[in-house]
Amino acid sequence: MNLSLAKVLVVADGPGVMLHTPSLLLQLRHAGYDASVAVSDSAAIFATPFSPAMLTGHAAVAWPPTAGGALDDYKVILFAPCSSAFFREIVEGEAVRFPEKSRLLAAPAVLPEEDVDDAWLEFERLGGERWTVVKPLAERLDLGALGELACASPEQCVEAVRRTLVRQSLAGKSILVTAGPTAEDADPVRYVTNRSTGRMGVALACAAARRGAVVTLVHGPMSWPIPNFPNIMDVAVRSAAQMHEAVMERVLSQNVAILCAAVADYTPVTYSDVKIKKGHEATFGLLLKRTPDILASVGKLQDRPFLVGFAAESDHVEANAQGKLIGKNCDMICANDVTEEGSGFAVGTNRVTVFTRDGGVERLPQMSKDDVARKILDLIELRLGAPSGS
Ligand code: PMT
Repeated sequence: MNLSLAKVLVVADGPGVMLHTPSLLLQLRHAGYDASVAVSDSAAIFATPFSPAMLTGHAAVAWPPTAGGALDDYKVILFAPCSSAFFREIVEGEAVRFPEKSRLLAAPAVLPEEDVDDAWLEFERLGGERWTVVKPLAERLDLGALGELACASPEQCVEAVRRTLVRQSLAGKSILVTAGPTAEDADPVRYVTNRSTGRMGVALACAAARRGAVVTLVHGPMSWPIPNFPNIMDVAVRSAAQMHEAVMERVLSQNVAILCAAVADYTPVTYSDVKIKKGHEATFGLLLKRTPDILASVGKLQDRPFLVGFAAESDHVEANAQGKLIGKNCDMICANDVTEEGSGFAVGTNRVTVFTRDGGVERLPQMSKDDVARKILDLIELRLGAPSGS
C-alpha cells in the first residue's frame, strides 16, 4: 500500500485545537499523509476551522458532515483530542455515518480531575470493535491559563495512523533486532565506540512492530530515540560482551534476527577502576582485545532463526559483504557503503544492497532509513513465505 497517498481526516475537539492539532497536522504531512481537518463546535470556540485547515492545503471539512459521502475518501478518521461527551455523541448518535472502509481512531482528551486509564477504558467500551483508542499519555498537555489536558501526543497519534494502515503481515512472529554502537570502557570516563546512532536499527524495529511482530530491540547507548511501542521490548546494554550475552539468551526463541548494531570489534584488555592519569610521554597506548562476534555466534547455532546481518564497508563493498554472508553463515546480508554521502552512520538515509544465501541480489537506491527498513522486511517476508506488509 502506498501510505503517501492515504487521506487522513483529523477531527479536533475542545481547546486542544490550539496546540495539539497544528502539530498533529504538520506531523501527518511530514509523514507523507494527505491530511484534512474538521473542528467540533467546542473546538470552534478556540479556533476557527480556517486556522488549522491552512496547514493542510485543503478547506476545512464541515462537522458534522453536511453532504452524504463527504467522508468517503478518508482511509483514516482520527478524533484527536476528543472529549468523552463528544465521543459518546459520535458513537451513540445518528448524525454521522462513517464509510465501511474507513479506519476510526479516537485519542481521548482527559481532564485533570479524570483518571487516564479510566477514560481510556471508557472509550474502548463505548467504541467497541470498530474503534481504535489511542492511549492518553500520563503527562498532561499544558494549555496555559486553561489548565492541563492528558492526551496521546501528536507523535503517538501519527504512529497509530501508520499502524492502522499497515497490514499485520508479521503478526505472530518474533523478531530480534540489534542497534546502535557498543561502548567499551577503559576507565570510569573513557571508552571506545563508533559513530552509530541506532537510527537504522530503530527503523527496522519500528517497521517490524508496525507489521505486528513482537520485537526485541537489543541496543547499545544510542542517540536516536526509541518510540513507545507496546510490542517493542527494549533491552539496553553497553558493551559488545553484554550485547553478545543478551542476544544469545534470547535468539533461539525468535523467528528472525536482524543484527544491525555496529558492535566494537575490540575492547580494552583491562579496565581501570580509577581515571587513567596523564603521563609525561607524548604518546599513549591502549591495548585492545577482540570482542565476541555476535553474528558469527548466532550463525553457528543449530535451529537458529532466519539470520540477517549488516556489513558496513568502505572498500570492495559487495565482495566483502558477500564474504560476511557466507563466513558468518547468514541468510541475508545488507551491504552498506559507509563512505557514500547520505549512507551509513548518523544520517537519515541509507543505501544498501541486499544479498541472500539463495543467490538473490537487490540493489536498493538511496532512501530514508524507514524506507530501507520496509524494503528489508519485504525481502525477509518473501523468504519466510509471508505476504508483504508494505
Ligand atoms: O546507527 P546508524 O547511525 O543509523 O548507522 C547505521 C549503520 C551504519 C550502523 C548500519 O547501517 C550498519 O551498517 N550496521 C552494521 C555495522 C557493522 O558493525 O558492520 P560490520 O561490517 O563491522 O559487521 C558485520 C556484521 O557483524 C554486522 O551485522 C554486525 O552487527 C556484526 N558484528 C560485528 C562485530 C561483532 N563483534 N559482532 C557482530 O555481531
